[in-house]
Amino acid sequence: MSYPYQIKSLEEYNSAYKKSVEDPEGFWENIAENFTWRKKWDKVLEWNFKEPKIKWFINGKLNITENCIDRHLKTLGDQPAIIWEPNNPEERTRVVTYSRLHKRVYQFAQVLINNGVKKGDRVCIYMGMVPELAYAVLGCARIGAIHSVIFGGFSAQSIADRLYDAQAEFIVTCDGAYRGGKDIPLKSIIDDALIGNRIVKRVIVYTRTRTPISMLKGRDVWWEDEMEYAESQIEKDNIIRMPATEMDAEDPLFILYTSGSTGKPKGVVHSSAGYMVWTNYTFVNVFQYKPGDVFFCTADVGWITGHSYILYGPLSAGATSVMFEGIPTWPDAGRFWDIVDKYKVNTIYTAPTAIRSLMSYGLEPLKGKDLSSLKVLGTVGEPINEEAWHWYDENIGKGNCPIVDTWWQTETGGILISNLAGITPAKPSWATLPMPGVQPVLVDEKGNEATEPDEDGLLKGNLCIKAPWPAILRTTYGDHDRCRTNYFATYEDLYFTGDGALKNKDGYYRITGRVDDVLNVSGHRIGTAEVENAINMHAGVIESAAVGYPHDIKGQGIYAFVIYSHMHIDEEQTRKDIFQTVSRVIGAIAKPDKIQFVNGLPKTRSGKIMRRILRKIAEGETKNLGDTTTLLDPAVVDDIQKGKL
Ligand code: WT7
Repeated sequence: MSYPYQIKSLEEYNSAYKKSVEDPEGFWENIAENFTWRKKWDKVLEWNFKEPKIKWFINGKLNITENCIDRHLKTLGDQPAIIWEPNNPEERTRVVTYSRLHKRVYQFAQVLINNGVKKGDRVCIYMGMVPELAYAVLGCARIGAIHSVIFGGFSAQSIADRLYDAQAEFIVTCDGAYRGGKDIPLKSIIDDALIGNRIVKRVIVYTRTRTPISMLKGRDVWWEDEMEYAESQIEKDNIIRMPATEMDAEDPLFILYTSGSTGKPKGVVHSSAGYMVWTNYTFVNVFQYKPGDVFFCTADVGWITGHSYILYGPLSAGATSVMFEGIPTWPDAGRFWDIVDKYKVNTIYTAPTAIRSLMSYGLEPLKGKDLSSLKVLGTVGEPINEEAWHWYDENIGKGNCPIVDTWWQTETGGILISNLAGITPAKPSWATLPMPGVQPVLVDEKGNEATEPDEDGLLKGNLCIKAPWPAILRTTYGDHDRCRTNYFATYEDLYFTGDGALKNKDGYYRITGRVDDVLNVSGHRIGTAEVENAINMHAGVIESAAVGYPHDIKGQGIYAFVIYSHMHIDEEQTRKDIFQTVSRVIGAIAKPDKIQFVNGLPKTRSGKIMRRILRKIAEGETKNLGDTTTLLDPAVVDDIQKGKL
């Protein structure tokens, strides 16, 4: 595989960027030429941010799996596409070559067809990090079914909501999943999610942990049986190399649910062609991937990072992608470095929260690990603090590996702002320059472009993007107006990211964090409204307010202020009870780090909770809480401060 569009110098970056802004259609057309199309597009781009309506590669026809698999078979058939590292390091590694991946994907595509799945149907995937998860995702893409992967940490209730929102008729899951010392009973959680569900027709269950599970006749089938049957059909009927379904460039490829500032997660919808071109282009350029390199993205496929940089980006580039089932700290905090050593990993791409967590174990876990194969380090998910950046640089990269700080979002499909490894300059804790095709702008509350630098020469504002890049979200599933109001209505003719940012005189961007009611806990997005809804479902809770506060490892922790109905309670016990409710409603990832019981919340006369004040208290601010005179009862603030945890 060669990448003629790989940027090789700062000058090349500058000219690519310039061209991408002056002639976006010509620029992306040249790049899109490097993919396999059943039919080329008639027109490159049509868009407006009013509705919004965004179409790339209009009337182009393709199938993303032919680009991720089939086109590599001739030259890379025997090359590992996926190297799978099991949770338990004693268990056997699995190496999936491109040929094997091809076979498994068309075989599973046949399984889906046998089970009644058609193009456009929604298939919910709730699995651990096993190669079969990749087969399931790509099998859906092969026949044009829309996959909706749900992270294994979400509760039955969250799954039920997502199943309903997507009107999904099919589920692919596992009996259980191994994660560190824990076994997660995935099928049993799915069974709970399906109580009262009348839409799901089929659940396909892959055996991983051999935990006893219930299998309902007529609804639940075993993956292994289905694959065997598909194999026999393929042999007998000679349906060899199950042809991929032809997709329109704009046909939806997948839905991925993510949190916003309202209580209900949104189903972000990505297209086929634009998403493919973007994940490939950013993968090849940001990480400066060279054929044969081993790329290790530590994310879970349940999040957008796993979709774009374990599967679609690397595979479309014919790369070797490491897929890790476990967690960074099990059986010990040296696990990532064992994996780097074992597979001679060239690029590791992880989250600042993981780096900070591993830092806290000191240098002992690094002893005896050969990290000399590493060439590029990457981070994603949250702002990286300078201390973590330097630790990563010195101890992992040994000062020799460029670090790419990649800023993007579930909605953007792939990286939008990042340095290119070793090509454009890095600056600790700065995401630096936009990718070609990305036109950021910083605006004030009213939408006016920030033009006056502060005394440090920095522009400050809310980060927006002026024009569409190929992988911008197309809609939110089932509710297009929600997409418009969430992202395109705050400022006219701009996509609003929800993040605040700084820009220096070199044009580098530094992302400072969310400016809406969205928290970023360990690189995962969670809405304060969602957390509050969950807490409020707990019997006895009258009202609550959740805010973020700085957390050494997680980046942000969740601090909840709760009004509880009974005066004399065992606080410790009640906290644990509330944790249980939140785990049931959302999942353990949304558990507050601190719960403070209070008698009242600071409210304006019109009844609005003044979160600004609560945020300051949670952050440990004691004096400057800002103006409290508009409060209905300013005394509650003192009260809350006295009880601060
Ligand atoms: C939010 C998006 C992108 C995949 C993982 C998270 C924050 C992401 C960075 C970064 C500072 C970052 C933003 C963004 N974020 N990357 N390099 N520097 N902040 O995806 O769950 O959709 O969250 O993560 O606040 O809006 P997500």
